[in-house]
Amino acid sequence: MRTRVAIIGAGPAGLFLAQLLDAAGIESVLVERRSAEYVKSRIRAGILESASVRLLREAGVGDRIARDGIEHRGIHLQWPGERRHLDFVDLTGKSVWVYGQTEVTKDLMAARERAGQAAFYEVSDVELHDVESDSPAVTFTDAEGRAQRIDAEIIAGCDGSHGPSRHSVPRQHRRTLERTYPFAWLGIRADVAPSTDELIYAWHPDGFALHSMRSPTVSRFYLQVRPDEDLADWSDDRIWDALSTRLGLDGWTLHPGPITERSVLPMRSVVTSPMRHGRLFLAGDAAHTVPPTGAKGLNLAIADVALLSRAIAEWLGAGDTRLADAYSDTALRRVWRCTHFSWWMTTMLHRHGDEFDAGLQLTQLQRVAQSSAAATELAENYSGIPIEGLP
Ligand code: APR
Ligand code: PHB
Repeated sequence: MRTRVAIIGAGPAGLFLAQLLDAAGIESVLVERRSAEYVKSRIRAGILESASVRLLREAGVGDRIARDGIEHRGIHLQWPGERRHLDFVDLTGKSVWVYGQTEVTKDLMAARERAGQAAFYEVSDVELHDVESDSPAVTFTDAEGRAQRIDAEIIAGCDGSHGPSRHSVPRQHRRTLERTYPFAWLGIRADVAPSTDELIYAWHPDGFALHSMRSPTVSRFYLQVRPDEDLADWSDDRIWDALSTRLGLDGWTLHPGPITERSVLPMRSVVTSPMRHGRLFLAGDAAHTVPPTGAKGLNLAIADVALLSRAIAEWLGAGDTRLADAYSDTALRRVWRCTHFSWWMTTMLHRHGDEFDAGLQLTQLQRVAQSSAAATELAENYSGIPIEGLP
């Protein structure tokens, strides 16, 4: 089989790239290890920067966001006895949107089906070949057990943090920098109306807690736990008690409800560079991972792909390689900014270290609440810094 761009991975990065390339008249083939059903049901993050919403809308996949997404002006930051609202719209002119990554994925998969372009799900043994040559290829075994080969002009590695693409950048050219945090998140989804208008990020002596949401009837919560935490130790009552304590504030009540999903998420920061080698381009979690505290993972994947689709269109359309040559450096500048922001939010909000660390965290939170300069710095990063070269 021959195509112009072989895309490995049908997460938000791969699916959105496929959509943008299709809009530019560039044919692609998608190759995904999991089933389409699995991809559509995977529960992930839930906050979109307004630039991400605009890009999805411009690509023709914004209808449901406009209908079901919830626009938020900002977030609440909390520590014992205080809950302060940061208004991003006042501070930066930009809002954010609550809309689950699962829903973004569903919208993009539906668009892919409408476009009638090839996608292989449930593949195995994916291998990349000849990425340094002018004719790279991807081989794999399809769902029926047949050996397949895709010859392409470009390979887009959008296969997340555990995929094979990153390893096709030869070891001597590749640098991976990593930070593992000494805690994890226990995340739950519950069929209950949110007890808050906008997200609450809470520092507490027992550990961090986050009150998020998916819709007017579905809430999402996270608790800081140990990295080796056993879910079996967390009964529903224990979860609601911990959330009530850590999110607690005089005069405010947390409403519990049936828990419909629960999992433990590890917290890591990873940056792999370069994001291009020969005709292989990396995008999204294939190149970088952020801890979820700053809600950046999905937005970074969208920004990477906005840059990459333009670079590919210029190269394959007009033979101009300038954007492709600049892709890795341009994308990595934004990746590092978001990596710092996610690290900073994580470090400020999670209990770790000793009482000295706690003192530093609390003064930092108070500073953000009191100084418009400090608040604006958080708001600019949370609501999304510009994507270089895009209006
Ligand atoms: N072959 C084909 N596909 C693969 C392979 C492989 N060997 N390995 C992994 N994949 C697929 C995964 O099954 C997944 O569907 O690649 C896809 C990668 O998707 P994501 O992990 O969602 O990564 P990305 O598209 O970059 O989106 C980043 O997702 O993990 C969250 O927090 C992260 O919000 C961020 C966003
Ligand atoms: C979520 O709703 O899943 C969510 C929201 C904000 C975060 C992380 C996760 O920072």
